[in-house]
Amino acid sequence: MSTLQEKINQTIVDVIDFPKEGIVYKDITPLFLNPDLSDEIVDAFVEKAKGKVDIVCGIESRGFLYGIQIAQKLKVPFVLIRKAGKLPPPTISQSYDLEYGQATIEVNSNYIKDGARVLIHDDVLATGGTAEACAKLVEKCGGKTTQFSFIVDLTFLNGKDKLTSFTTDIITLIEY
Ligand code: PRP
Ligand code: MG
Repeated sequence: MSTLQEKINQTIVDVIDFPKEGIVYKDITPLFLNPDLSDEIVDAFVEKAKGKVDIVCGIESRGFLYGIQIAQKLKVPFVLIRKAGKLPPPTISQSYDLEYGQATIEVNSNYIKDGARVLIHDDVLATGGTAEACAKLVEKCGGKTTQFSFIVDLTFLNGKDKLTSFTTDIITLIEY
C-alpha cells in the first residue's frame, strides 16, 4: 500500500521547459482524473482543518478545485479569492509583486466576518507571494488566517517564509 504522498508523487507529471526553458513544471491536473485519490486528498486536508476554521478561502483558479470540497466537508462557507476585475462590488483588493510587474487579487468585502478563522487553500506554494497577499486581504477584512493548505510545496522557493508571520499551521502534502 502506498502512502498518500507516494500516490500524489506518482500522479503529478513533470513537464520540462514549461512555461519557459529551464523550468520543470509540476502538472497537478492528473490528480483530478482520479476520483478516489482526489477524495483521499480532500479528506487529508479536512482532517487537518476540522474544528479550526470558520471559512475556507480558495485562490483562483486551481485553489477552487479542492477548496470548495474541503469547505463542503467542513460545513463552512467557501469564499472565492479572485484575480482583479472578476468579482462585482463590494470588493477589497491586495496587490503583490510578481517576477515581472504586479498582480492584484480581490474578495467580496462582506464575506469574511470580523474575527473569522480562515483557511487559505491553494494547489501549489511557490514563492508564497499569492498566499501572502491573500492573508493580507483576510486581515483587511477583519479575519485571521489560522491555516494554509497546499497540495505541493516547491521548497526551494522558500514560500513558507512569507507565511509564518500569519500562522505556522501550514499543511503541505508533498514537497519538492
Ligand atoms: C499558480 C499556483 C498558485 C500560485 C503560486 O497560480 O496555482 O496559485 O501560482 O505562486 P506563488 O507562490 O509564487 O505566488 P497561477 O497564478 O499560475 O494561476 P492559476 O491557478 O489560475 O493557474
Ligand atoms: Mg493558482
